[in-house]
Amino acid sequence: MNFIEIAKKRFSVRCYKDKGVEKEKLQMILEAAHVAPTAANLQPVRLIVVTSREGLEKIGKGANLYGAPLAVIVCADHAKAWVRPFDKKQTSDIDASILTDHMMLQATELGLGSVWICYFNPDVIRREFGLSDNLEPVNILAIGYADEEAADPERHLQTRIPVKELVSYETI
Ligand SMILES: Cc1cc2nc3c(=O)[nH]c(=O)nc-3n(C[C@H](O)[C@H](O)[C@H](O)COP(=O)(O)O)c2cc1C
Repeated sequence: MNFIEIAKKRFSVRCYKDKGVEKEKLQMILEAAHVAPTAANLQPVRLIVVTSREGLEKIGKGANLYGAPLAVIVCADHAKAWVRPFDKKQTSDIDASILTDHMMLQATELGLGSVWICYFNPDVIRREFGLSDNLEPVNILAIGYADEEAADPERHLQTRIPVKELVSYETI
């Protein structure tokens, strides 16, 4: 599959088989995160990989993982993040999300399903995983083998706004 095929194939999986993700596949997913770019290459991101029943239950107190056997909690490290001098905008959310997207697409390429989760209680995740104050859980990526029908790779004409609305040239 080339890139656009992978991007079109990916869909949010909300039902998973009771089958773990192979170690080799997890390593490839983490490698995809490792090579992701971050602002000024400061790499203000920490990944907590969770596969144990206890760990998944801890996440379950604050998020719905839809039965996925693997979750990666993507944390922004505010102590390391780049700050734009003009307006003091910190880019750690962006950095964390680039890593998340790399992992999600790598998972797709490996035949795995995933869903990006932001609907979680950050205080619960902080407490359950003992996160220090500088670490903010930004995204949780749930990964596993889909136990639902694959979405149509050509669905985006119906499910996304028209390209004409998305893109303008030279001026908004
Ligand atoms: C930043 C972000 C946060 C999301 N949070 C959740 C979430 O908390 N729970 C969930 O079920 N899906 C979540 N999603 C998945 C989106 O709902 C989904 O990507 C979108 O509806 C498009 O559907 P598709 O992924 O199947 O193409 C999130 C996606 C993104 C990019």
